[in-house]
Amino acid sequence: SLLHQNNYLVDGELRPWSGESSEVYSTISSTQNYAPTLLGTIPTLGEKEALEAMDAAVNAYNKGQGLWPTMKVNDRIACMEKFVTQMKTKRDEVVKLLMWEIGKSLPDSEKEFDRTVDYIYDTIEEYKQLDRDNAKFEKNDGVYAHIRRGPLGVVLCLGPYNYPLNETFALLIPALIMGNTAIFKPAKFGVLLISPLLEAFQSSFPKGVVNIIYGRGRTVATPIMQSGKVDVLALIGNSKSANALQNEHPKSNRLRLVLGLEAKNPAIVLKDADLDLAIDECIAGTTSFNGQRCTALKIVYVHEAIVDEFNKRFAKRVDALKFGNPWESGVKLTPLPEPDKPQYIQELIDDALAKGASILNEKGGQTTENYIFPAVLYPVNKDMRVFQEEQFGPVIPVLSFKDINEPLDDMAESNYGQQVSLFGSDIKTLAPLIDTLVNLVCRVNLNSSCQRGPDVYPFTGRKDSAVATLSVHDALRSFSIRTFVASKDN
Ligand code: G3H
Repeated sequence: SLLHQNNYLVDGELRPWSGESSEVYSTISSTQNYAPTLLGTIPTLGEKEALEAMDAAVNAYNKGQGLWPTMKVNDRIACMEKFVTQMKTKRDEVVKLLMWEIGKSLPDSEKEFDRTVDYIYDTIEEYKQLDRDNAKFEKNDGVYAHIRRGPLGVVLCLGPYNYPLNETFALLIPALIMGNTAIFKPAKFGVLLISPLLEAFQSSFPKGVVNIIYGRGRTVATPIMQSGKVDVLALIGNSKSANALQNEHPKSNRLRLVLGLEAKNPAIVLKDADLDLAIDECIAGTTSFNGQRCTALKIVYVHEAIVDEFNKRFAKRVDALKFGNPWESGVKLTPLPEPDKPQYIQELIDDALAKGASILNEKGGQTTENYIFPAVLYPVNKDMRVFQEEQFGPVIPVLSFKDINEPLDDMAESNYGQQVSLFGSDIKTLAPLIDTLVNLVCRVNLNSSCQRGPDVYPFTGRKDSAVATLSVHDALRSFSIRTFVASKDN
């Protein structure tokens, strides 16, 4: 049945909306002709409603004693616990919408939901620890200080379509528990799945603490930024949107940023690598959720001594992956939520073919309206778009190298610096290489594919890949500032 979301959350009220609405479609088709399936509608709010949300968040942050930022720690925790308890009752609905809205497989959709619930509980525990640390006084040069972490203010929170629940909440939850207030606009794909949670937000938090709005970015997010009242822009997505929003703020140099952006994580397969292991991990790293992960392996470097063997086996393994609807058993590849993605991936393939690459796997590049089968491209070079661009989809560029400095130089020149996967077995070779790699990216995955979790580990990047650090531990720090009360020894 269709889900018509006809209200939005501002200042503690689920306000009815009778204005324009936008239809939400799924690329998963219930017919054979790939006609998109209508899932429901969302409000297309205007500037007025966006600014009301903004003012509600500002008021909730600024007004009086005992409200959200100055509320007792245990009371704030109680609000968060109430929310997560209610959220858990919505698992089936949210998981179903994850599958239909973004085409994520059933096991991965369930994992996204459960991981988010765990993340909330872990954040609560981490916050308790932080509060215990806050209780300490210190004395230096005759000055007593009680140093504590306090909130930054009002957060505009925008999450990505590939983890519309988990990564949005990885921003929102730590921001809230630290005492910030928020305006949150759900991702373009994965927007309806927030609907089952609206009442939980409304009944768990004081008014104005969380405001949930819908609409076109330019109509709602831009005026919010232009108001100059946003203290933190928290966004996981692309740098084009982040830069555009940042530039709308009249005093952008005082805006704090918590950003998770593009990456082009390489795999480097050395000649003494365990090839079975390297292939297993590269399959997972390049094709999981069709490559639509910022942590996906987006370029594969293989030593020239083993590249032919790697390519033969890797291409066969890619072709063996099952494509289908997200709820079907054993499905690894699923329809793509962005309608223009198959065309974009096709352009990357055509460009690479024109510049000398071949498609190594038989099914590579086979298309339907809502899908394109991952193409393994070899040999890829720097002139190709697939080398330069973050494909964020099903195409796998492979290069061979003779000298390890070739991939290292490429990484040094790259605009990105999130993670790398390194495959090899001789510790004498690996150790100095790891020392070099950790200065080019923020996480070196030894004999394993790149990933964000476990969520206790820092999630960040160098260069254009990130600003600030997320994780159960780090996010509380990223959304707060150290403040203190000082008194003299007299
Ligand atoms: O899209 C970027 C996500 O942070 C990837 O997370 O490695 O857990 O899939 P993941």
